[in-house]
Amino acid sequence: MNYPVWVVPYLGGSWVIGIIAIIHIFISHFAVGCGAFFALAEELAYRRGDERIYAFLKQHSRFFVLVTTVAGAVTGVGIWFAVSLVGPDGIASLIQCFSLAWAEEYLFFVAELATAFAYYYTWNKISRQKHLLLARLYMIFSIATLVIINGMLTFMLTPGKWLTSHNWVDGFFNPTYCPSLIIRLLIMFALAGMYALVTSSRIAEPKFRTFMVRYCAKWLLPVFVIGPVVGFWYLTQIPQATMHTIFTGIQSSGVGNFSILARALYLSLILSGTIILFNFFGPYLNPRGFTFRIALLFLVCGLAVTGTTEWMRELLRKPYIVYGYLYSNGMHTDELPAKVDASFLKKGRWATAMATPDMPPVAKGELLFRYECMSCHTVRGYRSMKTLLGPRDEDALVGFLQLLRMRDRSVNPYSGIMPPLVASDDELQCLSKYLATINQKERAQAISMSH
Ligand code: HEC
Repeated sequence: MNYPVWVVPYLGGSWVIGIIAIIHIFISHFAVGCGAFFALAEELAYRRGDERIYAFLKQHSRFFVLVTTVAGAVTGVGIWFAVSLVGPDGIASLIQCFSLAWAEEYLFFVAELATAFAYYYTWNKISRQKHLLLARLYMIFSIATLVIINGMLTFMLTPGKWLTSHNWVDGFFNPTYCPSLIIRLLIMFALAGMYALVTSSRIAEPKFRTFMVRYCAKWLLPVFVIGPVVGFWYLTQIPQATMHTIFTGIQSSGVGNFSILARALYLSLILSGTIILFNFFGPYLNPRGFTFRIALLFLVCGLAVTGTTEWMRELLRKPYIVYGYLYSNGMHTDELPAKVDASFLKKGRWATAMATPDMPPVAKGELLFRYECMSCHTVRGYRSMKTLLGPRDEDALVGFLQLLRMRDRSVNPYSGIMPPLVASDDELQCLSKYLATINQKERAQAISMSH
């Protein structure tokens, strides 16, 4: 409301964030997991005095430094750009709430990058003991970045006591903080193993390759053994209304009404299952037959799981950015006007400036659509109005929007997925007029077909 809206045709702004975020998460989780991998594998090499493991780690660290410092840092900055363009209200809340935590996050991030470079450039230049110390430092710094950002990420779904106390520590150590931290660590170890499988599969000497491939495969074990238990713990902590949406989705999937949330959940489970079977029968039982191509395929599967799981986490939060506090369209729950028919365009700074008194109704409707709906819908494209409006005409739309304006959950069936509409009666008419122009053609076609 207080900022201009960035309209991204077809894709929608949330997918701009989503695509960058999924790639970033895949890389950053690998970066953290790899810290532990280097620390433990180098200790193994140190204890055994095994030159081959050292040579492998040196090779692997080049790949690692390149991926994390270039792709990881670029996508990380990319998220900031995308988020501040697409959801300025959301990111403003997060920055205001957790200024201190962000500052610490950046300290550890700089320390992490510095040790990564030091680690890579000091192979065979400093004593082995010191080099091992660098690996351990990198592990500590990189896990610290997770320990901090995990507070902010989980806050958005389960702000917990913060909602009443507004004390940032309550928001940080929120109900899903611990289970999420453990799951993410386990996933990081698994990803570190999967990336290392790629480099291990290229080792020339067969006996050592077998050894390394099997060693890397073991890094996937913890997530599959402990993951389900912690996953269950996580689910017990998320908002009841969200659980309800998942279960109705699962129950109704039998009759073909497959909710998108249930679909994301199934997909994530199926892909994880594929990886565990694949890992067990592939690199673990049959390390000799494990080739570079299979390792790459494996990595693609990992990316797909990361993608669907993060997508599901985002869906869980709808219709909020910060659950129970800030709606996806930037409206704060405590800013909802007391009267149901209060004007929207008189509220926000930017929105008010954009709405000139002599604006034609359809243009006014379009403005309302931008501010209140476009954070989740596009005109044509992802979750498009063209299809979702169906055959509703202007009159039907007025009825629909009146329903959307209701705050009472028992009256407004959409209250679990969409924020309540804020609009005066006049604004509601304008929005219906605008929406009716979107599906005009479809309606005309439907009428001519029925004749
Ligand atoms: C927080 C995100 C969000 C916002 C903001 C939002 N919607 Fe939705 N809307 C959804 C979701 C999710 C669905 C379900 C989509 C599906 O079933 O694929 C939906 C469904 C719909 C449907 C189809 C409903 C049906 O049962 O036929 C219409 C029409 C619609 N939205 C219009 C709007 C309008 C108009 C606005 C703005 C006033 C708006 N939405 C704002 C998330 C949102």
